[in-house]
Amino acid sequence: MHTKRSLTGDRPTGRLHLGHYIGSLQNRLELQKKGYDQFVMIADVQALSAQAEHPEKVRENILELALDYLAAGIDPKKTTIFIQSLVPEIAELTVYFLNLVTVLRLGQNPTVKTEMVEKGFTKTVPAGFFMHPVNQAADILAFRSDVVPVGEDQLPMIEQTNEIADKFNRIYKKTFKKVAPLLSKTPRLPGIDGKAKMGKSLGNAIFLADSGKEIREKVQKMYTDPKHIHVSDPGRVEGNTVFTYLDAFDPDVKEVQRLKKQYQEGGLGDVALKKRLAEILESTIRPIREKRQKLAKNPKAVMRILEKGTEHARTEAAKTMHVVRKAMKIDYL
Ligand code: TRP
Repeated sequence: MHTKRSLTGDRPTGRLHLGHYIGSLQNRLELQKKGYDQFVMIADVQALSAQAEHPEKVRENILELALDYLAAGIDPKKTTIFIQSLVPEIAELTVYFLNLVTVLRLGQNPTVKTEMVEKGFTKTVPAGFFMHPVNQAADILAFRSDVVPVGEDQLPMIEQTNEIADKFNRIYKKTFKKVAPLLSKTPRLPGIDGKAKMGKSLGNAIFLADSGKEIREKVQKMYTDPKHIHVSDPGRVEGNTVFTYLDAFDPDVKEVQRLKKQYQEGGLGDVALKKRLAEILESTIRPIREKRQKLAKNPKAVMRILEKGTEHARTEAAKTMHVVRKAMKIDYL
């Protein structure tokens, strides 16, 4: 088969928000449209590595995440959606990859370093969490992916995946291709408070399932230019969250340019600007929310989609393991 492969995933730790939408969902929809052989993974193993004592939280978010995917337009007829822990070939590949990475190198992975600080893991990091870049390399390479649509924060993961693939190819046999990240046009969507990252735990996220009222309230709270007090005052566009969002979501680029000019010169109030943004976000989110509500009425059908996807994913990962075992000379019997 000559079609290109893509794999990406999310941890089932909560609902997806606009940061996910801009960061990678949009690109997944694009790849799906282009006919890529796409795999989307619910990374429950990775989620458990940070909260082993709360399996119920991971479990309840499996369905939520699947609903978000389907509602956002991931089509199970074109994209394989699957559950990571039910493809044990990934765990197997992780173990072999662990031999190709030093503990020192793992400790230098910027994504892990940042997450360790965020989670208060500096002195108490579980080994499973510490090594999750290796697990992530196994996710990607088990499916011999060509591209990985991710947010900017995941770039060190792709880099480490390629290092592992190179080392495997060198030591054993040329088996894996180089994988390329696919970044979104908007590198990172800030939270409504203007902070660099939108996150559920940071309390600054707009979710794909938010109601019209929630969207309006959150946009009203959005960080703009604190010095822009009167409508007639000139305001700042750089670092103004409302404009960052308009750049990401408003299809009328020319009008946004005009609004920016007017805001900078003075004469455009935050209230009018936020009203426009709230309407645009509502028109993006409304169809997703409505589709989600419909799908949520039949959780069994959604679980059935995951079951079929997982079955297919397992077959594909098993093909890779066959090649891997041969390359490693452990195909004894
Ligand atoms: N670490 C990713 C995140 O937190 C999720 C993930 C797990 C992933 N395995 C992956 C993303 C493989 C891309 C490819 O968002």
